[in-house]
Amino acid sequence: MTANHAHAHAHAHDHQHGVFDDAALADMIDLDGEVLAGYLDEVTAWTAGFAPQPGTIVDLGPGTGTGTAALARRFPDASIVALDASEPMLDRVRAKARELGLDGRVRAELADVDARWPDTATPDLVWTVSTLHHLADPERVLRDVHAALAPDGVVVAVEMDDQPRFLTDDGGTGLEDRARAVMADAGWNAHPDYQPLLERVGFEVTRRRFTIDVAPLPDSARRYALAFLGRLRVALSDRLGPDDLALLDRLVAADGPESVLVRDDLAVRGTRTAWVGRRTSGRAQSRATS
Ligand SMILES: C[S@@+](CC[C@H](N)C(=O)[O-])C[C@H]1O[C@@H](n2cnc3c(N)ncnc32)[C@H](O)[C@@H]1O
Repeated sequence: MTANHAHAHAHAHDHQHGVFDDAALADMIDLDGEVLAGYLDEVTAWTAGFAPQPGTIVDLGPGTGTGTAALARRFPDASIVALDASEPMLDRVRAKARELGLDGRVRAELADVDARWPDTATPDLVWTVSTLHHLADPERVLRDVHAALAPDGVVVAVEMDDQPRFLTDDGGTGLEDRARAVMADAGWNAHPDYQPLLERVGFEVTRRRFTIDVAPLPDSARRYALAFLGRLRVALSDRLGPDDLALLDRLVAADGPESVLVRDDLAVRGTRTAWVGRRTSGRAQSRATS
C-alpha cells in the first residue's frame, strides 16, 4: 500500500469521491461525539463567550451531526443549518435531529462549498469541525464565510492535532507513537495553523488548544477504540512491522485479555486546536491562548 493509499483508507475514500460515503466511518464519527460529549460541551461553552446568542448557526461539514446536536443544546434559541456535500451524512443529521426532537430547528442542506457558498440564511455563527482540511481551497471558502456572516458574526474551526490515544502501557504507547508517525507521513488529517489564513481573510482570531482525557470512560469508549484501531489496522497493514500488527490484532480482537473491549487500562486522550474568528472590517488583532 502506498502512503496515498493509506491516506485514502484513513479518510474512508472521501478524497476520491469528495464525500464520506462509508457507513462504518459515520458510525465512528457518532461514537467520537458520544465519547467526547464533555469536551464538545467545553468547546460550545467557549464559543458562547464569542457568540452569546446566535440566531442562525451554520454547521459546515456536520458529518453525522454530533456537533449540530451540541450546538442545539448550548444555544436553545438558535436555528441550525447543516451544510454538507454528502447526502448520506445529511440523512444521519436529519435522523439525529428527529430523534432529539430538534427537527424544527435543524435544516440539513446539500452543498459542496468547494464549488460555491450556498445562498442560505445569514449566519451569526459558522461552526466547522474537522472539515477545513478536506476542502480544496479553505481560504476561498473562509472568504465566502466572512462575506456570508452577519456583522460581528464569528467562525469557529476545530481540528484534531493528532490521532487519539487509547493505550497507557509502554508497549501500547510505543505502537501508537509508531502508528502516528506513519499516518502523519501519509498526510492523515494534515492541516496548517489556520490563524494566519483567517487573519488574511479579515477575521480577528483567538486560538485555543483543548486537551482531552475522558474520565470516567463511558461504555461506548470501548466501541470507539475498537472502531478507530480497527480502521488503523487496515490503513497500516503493510506499513508497520509484524510485532506491531500482531499487537493491533490482539487489541481489536473480539476476545482475549488485551482486547480493548475488556482491558482495564483503556484511555481516550488527545488534543484539538480551535480557532475563533470574529468578522471585523477593521485591522485584524489576534491572540493565542495556548
Ligand atoms: C470529518 S467529517 C466532520 C464531521 C463533524 N464535523 C464532526 O466533527 O464530527 C468532514 C465532513 O465534511 C464534509 N465535507 C467535505 N468536503 C466538503 C465540501 N466541499 N462541502 C461540504 N461538505 C464537505 C464531509 O462530507 C464530512 O461530513
